[in-house]
Amino acid sequence: MKGASHPTNDVSLNPSTTPTIQDVIGQVQAGRRQFIKGGVGAAALASAGGLTLSGLVSTVQAAPVPASIGFPGIGFDSVPANTRALNAALLGVASSTSVVDRITVPAGYTANVFVSWGDPIMPGGTAFSGNASEAAAQQLKQFGMHNDGMHFFPFTSTNGAASSERGLLCVNNEYTHEELLFTDGQIGAGYTIAKTRKSQAAHGVSIVEARRINGKWAVAKSSVYGRRITANTKMRVSGPAAGHALLKSNEYTITDTGSVPTGNQLDGFTAYGTVNNCAHGITPWGTYLTCEENWNGNFGSNSALPTASASEDGKLFNRYGVVAAGFGYKWHTTDPRWDVVTNPKEANLFGWVVEIDPFNPTALPVKRTALGRFKHESAQYVVDSQNNVALYMGDDERNEYIYKFVCSGKFNPTNRAANRNLLDAGVLYVARFDANLAGEWIALLPGTIGLNGAALRDHPNFAGANDAEVQAKILIKTRMAADAVGATMMDRPEWTGARPRIGGFDEIEVYCTLTNNNRRGSAATPTSNNPDGSTTAASARPAMDAANPAADNVYGHIIRWRENGKVVTATTFNWDLFAQAGDTLTTKTPKTTNDYKGNIVDSPNGSADYGAPDGLWFDPFGRLWVQTDQIGDGSGDFVNIGGNMMVCADPNTGETRRFLTAPNKCEVTGVTMTPDGKTMFVGVQHPGEDALASNPTQFSNWPQNQWSIEADGVTLLPNGRPRSSVVVITKDDGGIIGS
Ligand code: FEO
Ligand code: CA
Ligand code: CA
Repeated sequence: MKGASHPTNDVSLNPSTTPTIQDVIGQVQAGRRQFIKGGVGAAALASAGGLTLSGLVSTVQAAPVPASIGFPGIGFDSVPANTRALNAALLGVASSTSVVDRITVPAGYTANVFVSWGDPIMPGGTAFSGNASEAAAQQLKQFGMHNDGMHFFPFTSTNGAASSERGLLCVNNEYTHEELLFTDGQIGAGYTIAKTRKSQAAHGVSIVEARRINGKWAVAKSSVYGRRITANTKMRVSGPAAGHALLKSNEYTITDTGSVPTGNQLDGFTAYGTVNNCAHGITPWGTYLTCEENWNGNFGSNSALPTASASEDGKLFNRYGVVAAGFGYKWHTTDPRWDVVTNPKEANLFGWVVEIDPFNPTALPVKRTALGRFKHESAQYVVDSQNNVALYMGDDERNEYIYKFVCSGKFNPTNRAANRNLLDAGVLYVARFDANLAGEWIALLPGTIGLNGAALRDHPNFAGANDAEVQAKILIKTRMAADAVGATMMDRPEWTGARPRIGGFDEIEVYCTLTNNNRRGSAATPTSNNPDGSTTAASARPAMDAANPAADNVYGHIIRWRENGKVVTATTFNWDLFAQAGDTLTTKTPKTTNDYKGNIVDSPNGSADYGAPDGLWFDPFGRLWVQTDQIGDGSGDFVNIGGNMMVCADPNTGETRRFLTAPNKCEVTGVTMTPDGKTMFVGVQHPGEDALASNPTQFSNWPQNQWSIEADGVTLLPNGRPRSSVVVITKDDGGIIGS
């Protein structure tokens, strides 16, 4: 997620001062533990040492599990990097300012567009106009804009098996680009409630029935399951924070023409809407989890906000990045619900994980407060051998944290209804990654002792009438609680993914992409998130540490951990770095703790460098898929790596091959498969971002420049504007994707 309506977290600051470098290598040498017992031997540790980043990374990654354990292999050859040079060569010109504006997949695979922003997905839906002339009422029955995380929920076949030919594709629609969303763009002076309503209608979640008929995938456009969940959809709030005064926002009557205050407050158990739905999760009982990430950017105000020192509201705005200008949306100018001075508690109703039952279109989505409130990227579940359930979650902002929620109750595999409220009770933990490659899950509970030696219940940010209220405040102010207990600040935690326990592999092993952090190691005197929660969002400048060892971390890395005892209830774990992304051919001047080259294992197949890893997902067969979100036009630090992509990696050896390259100025995000593994859906978000309303195709005309018809035979209008889309990929021999 980037674009005009979003912050540029990923621009290098080129810090002018030399940081006081924490000797991360020394820390590791002092207390090194083995990630895999009996794996990395003492001799290997000794020989791979040396006071270099590459020494550290080569030691602790690529755990030497026998290649056959839990991994079926990679059966395709890498596609070339989608660089500007490649585009120029294909065009027969000397140079280009864009990458190839197409999807490319390996030989033997076929891709086509499955559904795009504006396509009808439910009864009464109308075909995309081509010039975005739809009003909110039409958008409400069309696929939303800028799709992100997604999952294919199969129907059950008549023989009882999960279908690979019919399912519900639940897709997040993360954000909107108003210059493409409206025919005439956003236009300050002419901005109207009608535009606000359309923008709100393009956010949220799209539930699409997908059917394969005679070998061709198509959207069932009149499906009764087709559904849009938007910024105005009524929801339930549940869990320990539900009903708290901080969640009692002003009540409005929401209509097409405005939001009219009723003069009452909501009850703290009710909310309207979900926004900035980035990545996702699923539960073992078959529900979809949509995660609210940069929700702060949808709010704004016509008035000055209170400061952090002035009020509790001000501190919450400060710590979560709510500012008067927002990210450029103008919702608050026409809809007072989104003005945080007029309606300050509304922001507290966002930043949650929302549970949706895709097979029950009339069920209200539920905001599950037990999972904490932050900028949720995704939520990966694991069920251990004792039916304990945990969700692993990242808070995607610079210097934020990695969390785990462990349900109090156990998963009941034979009674779906019994699991309905499992996400309402449990313990939320935050991770501390120690230099000795061990780690601790710190429980965010009233009695947890903070860095100041006092229990959270005695901290002014969380003080309450009783521990139930303290817990509610801890969950509403999750970031502050994590600050207070000394969690490890990370380089923007994006997706989490759990390695399947198959083929003899039986560890609970979870991966998390850390996409970049230009503030890491950027200050002569490093700074942290203040334990009192007063730090402005993303403003800290932490030193390098063992888990985030690269200064000015342009290319990002992937961390992974194993739960001790092979149970999700463990409070300790071992960790290592799976990969440090980078550019083998970079000309950036190396730093003591970052040579920018990374350590991608790409032999024997040639360079499969990537940067800014974001999407991360294990397919059921054990292949690790990684999707990237960087500048997307092959410029600057990505001149050799090229545009965004999806790679496939072997979790045992780290071997990585490039499976898909994507159009100009997009990101690749969202991936799922049918149960048989023979159809893959991949998301392409914001092709041609930053285009102006006066020239929508300035940077991209994808997907209609690549295909004249969608997978279901519907004609794609030849011009118009680029459209975020879900692509469907099959293997020409009918085999499993990646095999
Ligand atoms: Fe929406 Fe962190 O990506
Ligand atoms: Ca993301
Ligand atoms: Ca990202």
